[in-house]
Amino acid sequence: MTTAPDPPAPHQAATEAAAWPPPLPGALLDLAETMTHAVAILDTAGLVTWANRGFTRLTGFGPWDTAGRSFTGLVRLGGADDGPTLDVGDALAAGRSFDATVSLHRKDGARRWADLDMHPVADAAGTAVAHVVVLTDATEREQTSTRLAHAERLATIGRLAAGVAHEIATPVQFVGDSVQFLRDAMTDLATVIVALQRVRQAVTDGTPPAEAASAALAAEDAADLEYLLENTPRAVESCVEGLDRVSAIVRSLKEFAHPQQSTMASVDLNHVVRSTLTLARNEYKYVADLDTDFGALPPVTCIAGSISQVVLNLVVNAAHAIGDIVKARGGKGHIAVSTALDGAHAVITVRDTGCGIADDVRPHIFEPFYTTKAVGKGTGQGLALAWSIVAGDHAGAIEVDSTPGQGATFRVRLPLAGRAAGRLTAEAA
Ligand SMILES: Nc1ncnc2c1ncn2[C@@H]1O[C@H](COP(=O)(O)OP(=O)(O)OP(=O)(O)O)[C@@H](O)[C@H]1O
Ligand SMILES: [Mg+2]
Repeated sequence: MTTAPDPPAPHQAATEAAAWPPPLPGALLDLAETMTHAVAILDTAGLVTWANRGFTRLTGFGPWDTAGRSFTGLVRLGGADDGPTLDVGDALAAGRSFDATVSLHRKDGARRWADLDMHPVADAAGTAVAHVVVLTDATEREQTSTRLAHAERLATIGRLAAGVAHEIATPVQFVGDSVQFLRDAMTDLATVIVALQRVRQAVTDGTPPAEAASAALAAEDAADLEYLLENTPRAVESCVEGLDRVSAIVRSLKEFAHPQQSTMASVDLNHVVRSTLTLARNEYKYVADLDTDFGALPPVTCIAGSISQVVLNLVVNAAHAIGDIVKARGGKGHIAVSTALDGAHAVITVRDTGCGIADDVRPHIFEPFYTTKAVGKGTGQGLALAWSIVAGDHAGAIEVDSTPGQGATFRVRLPLAGRAAGRLTAEAA
């Protein structure tokens, strides 16, 4: 039986008549109406000419809200800034397909996530005359994956906690020592100042100041005034440095844990990498020196917390690979972390001078639970997670180069414009 859309209310019929009846033959209309997916037909300018009931369920906009309205203006697509709206506009103009996971605003203002698939409908001459948009509700999936990403990061923070505490303890220790020194110095300086005040008093009173002056000299000697004047500024400086260091660590930790880091947004990737390295310091500092080289990058659309997790996993792997070598040979290895722009991609490179990856290990490293490490040291999830974040969530790639015995290089390539751009299909109409 054909399920026809609700008829227009009488007072709307006159104004909305142009958009009614829907431009579909009966059987197709039946099919489109009974689909659980939200379906809308747009004209070449992006105006909605028809939408099914699934569309109303997902967006809250009924036929009379949608007819003749701009699709992107109506549901206000989001995700990564204005990216999806601009991409839909480009695809409409070029008469081509587009797919992406987007967020949209319901009529009641609530936000929903959906997988958007848009395809042109061509006439006999191959010219796009309309576009069909299919939206599949992905709210639950996106919320679950956001929650999982957040839980994963919190678990990582748990694993890093001892190292981070240690990283904070060191500057706190030297701030403590410096403050102790400053307290003793203040006591000594107070004695000297009091003795000098007596000299001033004697001069003001017109009494011979010689006695007070020699007492002041004795106080200066006892306090070792020269030493105090030389070392007090240094102690203050080291307090400032120590507190800067502690606040950098705490800031990195807060950024890493913040739920906002779980959504696609345009970010300063160098800042993300830098603050991850701050957190990871205790993981590598005993086995390796770190070199960094941050290239100039435009803002990158990515899930900052996830990329931070990837960098962390790569740096921890590098530290382990070096640890295996320096345990036997002594000394320290090197980890080099750099960022660079390569066309429409940002590239993060993590290079180490560790044990390298054997040829028979190499094909398996991205497999979940594949590890060559002892029980308790590795679970084989680091690279599998990194792969799913980079390739799956960001439409990027991870490349590996390794000479066994000499080290390994991991390169993470991220499309600057985020996943939507990475998946933009360029099919002609
Ligand atoms: N930089 C590297 N140098 C040498 N081998 C590496 C390097 N990075 C990864 N590998 C190899 O790849 C394997 C898989 O790495 P992955 O990060 O997925 O797991 P893991 O480090 O073993 O455990 P987890 O990361 O879960 O603690 C490692 O066990 C190791 O054999
Ligand atoms: Mg690992």
